[in-house]
Amino acid sequence: MLLSHLSLTNYRNFVRLDTDIAPGITLLVGGNAQGKTSLLEAIYFLATFTAFSTGDDRQVLNFTAGQEDLAVARIVAEYQRGGRIHRMEVRLIQERSGPLGERRRLRKEALLDGVKHKVSAMLGRFNAVLFLPHMLQIIEGAPEIRRRYLDMTISQVVPRYPQALSRYRKALTQRNALLKALGERSADVSQLDYWDAQLTEAGAHIIQARIQAIDELEKLVVGVHQELSRGAEVLRLVYRPSYDPLPKAENQYALPVDTAVKRSHLSLDTIQERFREQLLAERRNDIARGVTTIGPHRDDLLFLSNGIHLGHYGSRGQVRTAMLALKLAEVDWMHQHTGEWPILLLDEMLAELDPSRRDDLLTRLLRSEQVFATTTDLTHFPNAFIQQARLWRITAGQLEAYTP
Ligand SMILES: Nc1ncnc2c1ncn2[C@@H]1O[C@H](COP(=O)(O)OP(=O)(O)OP(=O)(O)O)[C@@H](O)[C@H]1O
Ligand SMILES: [Mg+2]
Repeated sequence: MLLSHLSLTNYRNFVRLDTDIAPGITLLVGGNAQGKTSLLEAIYFLATFTAFSTGDDRQVLNFTAGQEDLAVARIVAEYQRGGRIHRMEVRLIQERSGPLGERRRLRKEALLDGVKHKVSAMLGRFNAVLFLPHMLQIIEGAPEIRRRYLDMTISQVVPRYPQALSRYRKALTQRNALLKALGERSADVSQLDYWDAQLTEAGAHIIQARIQAIDELEKLVVGVHQELSRGAEVLRLVYRPSYDPLPKAENQYALPVDTAVKRSHLSLDTIQERFREQLLAERRNDIARGVTTIGPHRDDLLFLSNGIHLGHYGSRGQVRTAMLALKLAEVDWMHQHTGEWPILLLDEMLAELDPSRRDDLLTRLLRSEQVFATTTDLTHFPNAFIQQARLWRITAGQLEAYTP
């Protein structure tokens, strides 16, 4: 797919932006705090309807505009997909209330070709892959960040995934409330059966999609990563479900982390049944703690390079190479699923890479359909690459095309 036009209103420091966009590589050049990351994030918003870098979408609304009683941030994109032109619009509407305007409520609206849809129904219409330097946290940070990454990525290609996530979250909240109530007074424990059924139904969809996605991404990432590390390292992605959906007989012993475990053959029914059994086995423990201790909300994903746990022992360059390889693998993965090339958004991608890793990455980018990359310093890029790119200078939320 190709993005052909973008306009932003009150999105971070872009009060007003309106620009045509060409296929191929667009290089955004600018000093610190001029809006490079914000622009990539705005494009990514069309794919995920949330900003990766913040848990609170109100932060993307321009500060000054946000002071008003009613403020709207807007992203409008025209893009080509499957031989058709589409127009997508996202509005973030903030209303202030209370005597000092201290209560702020944010509403999201999404329109495709002029028709309003639920946000969950819009996922998958526009595909993008984003690399931000602080996404190294996906490898180095808490498991929660890895789950958020998986959810945002899978939601873009697996149609039923966002709905399963939302059913799961609701069931989990209800089940936890019931567990707390059961811990505080003696009530009928069999009430949990209903929530266990809800939780395992939605949970099995999530687990199955994660098994499949991680499996497919791993197959793709190995090749990309070997290319970027010149064959020196083998990257593995290891899914660590909080309970193992493999039946006991196949998985009797605790396995070392780097043992490949095949779970892709498991049916939805098997996954759900194993989840239900495990929930039952943990029931007393869950009641005592007042929370559900197993399930996809406790899953994890490990990154191993030559068997080494990158989150614990990886060098900066190694972690960065693994993350970039994962992002490039995501591009291929989305293409396999949707038949369209997603838009690739790379923020400060060359920092911390040695010259050979840089060259390999840039060569790959030249083969991409549409890429946006940012830099504070154009001299990091070889002339041959710059000549094939379109350059935009970005200054305080304003764009200007230029030639070096
Ligand atoms: N909601 C907002 N409203 C207005 N300005 C904002 C908002 N959020 C962030 N900014 C500002 O927008 C500017 C651009 O931020 P951005 O992160 O896009 O810069 P950048 O060009 O990527 O810089 P760097 O090179 O340091 O990464 C910053 O000054 C930031 O403080
Ligand atoms: Mg930045």
